[in-house]
Amino acid sequence: MQTENAAIEQKVESLLKEMTLQEKLGQMTQAERAAIKPAEVEEFFIGSILSGGGSVPWDSSPSGWAEMFNGFQSSAMKTRLKIPMIYGIDAVHGHNNVKGAVLFPHNIGLGCSRNPMLVEKAARATAEEVASTGLNWTFAPCIAVPQDERWGRTYEGFGETAELTSLMAQAAVKGYQGNGYTTYPYVLACAKHFIGDGGTTNGLDQGNTEIDEATLREIHLPGYVSAIKAGVGSIMVSFSSWDGQKMHSHKYLLTDVLKNELNFKGFLVSDWDAIQQLEGDFKKQVATAINAGVDMAMVPNSWKEFISVMKELVSEKVIPMSRIDDAVRRILRVKLEMHLFEKPYADRSLISMFGCKEHREIARECVRESVVLLKNENKMLPLKKNARHIILAGKSADDLGNQCGGWSVSWQGESGKTTDGTTILQAVKNAVSPNTKVTILKDDNIDPGADFAIAVIGEKPYAEGMGDRTDLRISDEDVRVVSRLKDAGLPVVTILFSGRPMIIEDIIHRTDAFVAAWLPGTQAEGITDVLFGDYNFKGKLSHSWPGKMEDIPVNAGSSARPLFEYGFGLSY
Ligand code: GLC
Repeated sequence: MQTENAAIEQKVESLLKEMTLQEKLGQMTQAERAAIKPAEVEEFFIGSILSGGGSVPWDSSPSGWAEMFNGFQSSAMKTRLKIPMIYGIDAVHGHNNVKGAVLFPHNIGLGCSRNPMLVEKAARATAEEVASTGLNWTFAPCIAVPQDERWGRTYEGFGETAELTSLMAQAAVKGYQGNGYTTYPYVLACAKHFIGDGGTTNGLDQGNTEIDEATLREIHLPGYVSAIKAGVGSIMVSFSSWDGQKMHSHKYLLTDVLKNELNFKGFLVSDWDAIQQLEGDFKKQVATAINAGVDMAMVPNSWKEFISVMKELVSEKVIPMSRIDDAVRRILRVKLEMHLFEKPYADRSLISMFGCKEHREIARECVRESVVLLKNENKMLPLKKNARHIILAGKSADDLGNQCGGWSVSWQGESGKTTDGTTILQAVKNAVSPNTKVTILKDDNIDPGADFAIAVIGEKPYAEGMGDRTDLRISDEDVRVVSRLKDAGLPVVTILFSGRPMIIEDIIHRTDAFVAAWLPGTQAEGITDVLFGDYNFKGKLSHSWPGKMEDIPVNAGSSARPLFEYGFGLSY
């Protein structure tokens, strides 16, 4: 939301006056691309479409996406008032649904950079790639403040403190939205998930945040204050509950606090079928959520039923017309602020921005600044580029999918060569001298004459609740990889790909150097840039690093002592 703009407010009011109830309800409806035909967008005046994680057109090239987008948009523009539709997607670390896009480090790594300008640059590059495929809304930044690393979405937040989250929230919003829609191209940002998604007991995804209001405001609200100050146009409501009440039913927080106290003038979108998690039948659930303050309903497959129950609820005066008008006013205001009425269609001239070299360089810079050096015994690092023989080992030494984590091409992500990018193995080969031998360990016979070994271990991809864990210890397989190399008498540097701090007591004493690389995305050159000393390590932990499972949750200022403090990070 930008500062009050009289011309826009006037246009909003004049449109609102002309709109029928059907047209207003259509604006409040968001359908999944696979559950609606372009003709239905026109028939039902649908205001928004989304791609859920991994939901891609059969031709998923950038021009295939633009084709699909324009197909839906041309239908929206055939409606009486020609109100353009807005298309949302989870571009949370680059345009990650699309093969070939540049994937940036997930937010947990960006938080370690402590560099808001870099976060803005990454968001800018992402906006350019999203816009290059025609889409105009990303469900990002996630500004959760994860307090318990057992949560599968820990990696989606920037870190465990309100201060770091606020710093990065405004940077990301400015990057995505082109600094108030003044730097073309841009997309609408969406701060999520309001509120307390990262504070649930035991880190249970979609669980219950059991803290008093003062703590809720101290930890989980500042990110939204900062995002609103940066002009964020949309906010997504959290699946989670506060003290047992579902956020999607919480009028005090959604309306009294967010809209009135914080003066948020954009619109609130519900999460995926989250309305259906409320009490009662669908009609009751819709009444509760809309009256609580939800403005646009993400009802991927039940968008028709949503419209029909809304008609009944309005005619029965269960939902007052003033609530409908407030929701539609907010949606129209954002669409007008984004100049969507002037430029509703995909801009094909942007297509060269997709997956471009400049973006890969920005991603590489983000990787350099997000990796954290936790141990460097006997100054093993920086490594020598003219070594005679380097051994790489571990399941993720040459695995782009593990490097990217969840929300990468598919919703959950997956191991293997899922998209274009550079693995650690490839980056090492590119970094060293021509006569250096680089081998990847396939079996037990280790050349004891090798100069050193690089073990690349950690988590396999996951997203959302699929990543909830009760045990964060390094796997036995990964412990064996490091131990075997050490037993062969080699200096070992261990690189950990993970969406959160893990319990590393079984290996931290067996490895000479240890680098927390988080989920760095497609450009692993950023890791070898620092490993071989072309750049210095800058990363500082965005989370306190627990020594044992029983220490969790451990956060800055809590009584339990972490293995490594929030803000820790070595350098050369
Ligand atoms: C998911 C996530 C949310 C995402 C939305 C649309 O369930 O909770 O972060 O933006 O659905 O994919």
